[in-house]
Amino acid sequence: MNLKEQVGYKAVDFVKDGMIVGLGTGSTVYYFIHAIAEKVKNGLKVELVSTSIQSIELAKSLGLVVKNLEEVDRIDVTVDGVDEIDKNFNAIKGGGAALFREKIVADITDTVVWIYDETKDVEKLGGFNLPVEILPFGYSHTIRKMKEQGLNPVLRIKDNEVLITDNNNYIVDLHLGYGFDIEDVKNKLSNIVGVLEHGLFLNMCKYCIKGTSEGPVLITNYSK
Ligand code: A5P
Repeated sequence: MNLKEQVGYKAVDFVKDGMIVGLGTGSTVYYFIHAIAEKVKNGLKVELVSTSIQSIELAKSLGLVVKNLEEVDRIDVTVDGVDEIDKNFNAIKGGGAALFREKIVADITDTVVWIYDETKDVEKLGGFNLPVEILPFGYSHTIRKMKEQGLNPVLRIKDNEVLITDNNNYIVDLHLGYGFDIEDVKNKLSNIVGVLEHGLFLNMCKYCIKGTSEGPVLITNYSK
């Protein structure tokens, strides 16, 4: 088992009969969704919601039923990946452009579990560029404002086209550098009209499962 597979399968320990479960997005959650599908085939009864169209399609292809978020009033547990995480459980997410739905789902979840391989574990954030979802209307002005604030924005392009999110918006990646000032960046972004959501997920998880060569390590966030 590779490290992503190891933590994806380990995360099903958090899922019990009767739960409403949030499916994250990405190449690590890919294994969690497979693990859930296997459990459901063996009789596990859960209701599922998703953070992206990609995960809905994967789940459906494995025979799972995924509910619309509006059909549930809460979520017991959500399992999601991260792009980087520091010692204070602050993470950067959105490498897969799903940050907005991921943050909404995390916000209404009782227990958020992040799964990742040890390469995501960092002393300080910033090696990974910070994704920000912005409104297409007036986007060049939004990007100009970001530049004026020294945020080094780069509009995300995929296959030679501007990337469009599941919410029909754009993603801008901020090249902030290692050890950037999290509060400062958060404040600057909150003052820019056109910014819809950013990929800073600050202390939002209760548990982490880190994949290491010695096996999965469970880490509890006691401040939650
Ligand atoms: C999706 O937008 C992201 O937040 C992912 O959860 C994150 O990029 C982790 O993805 P991987 O598991 O593919 O590294």
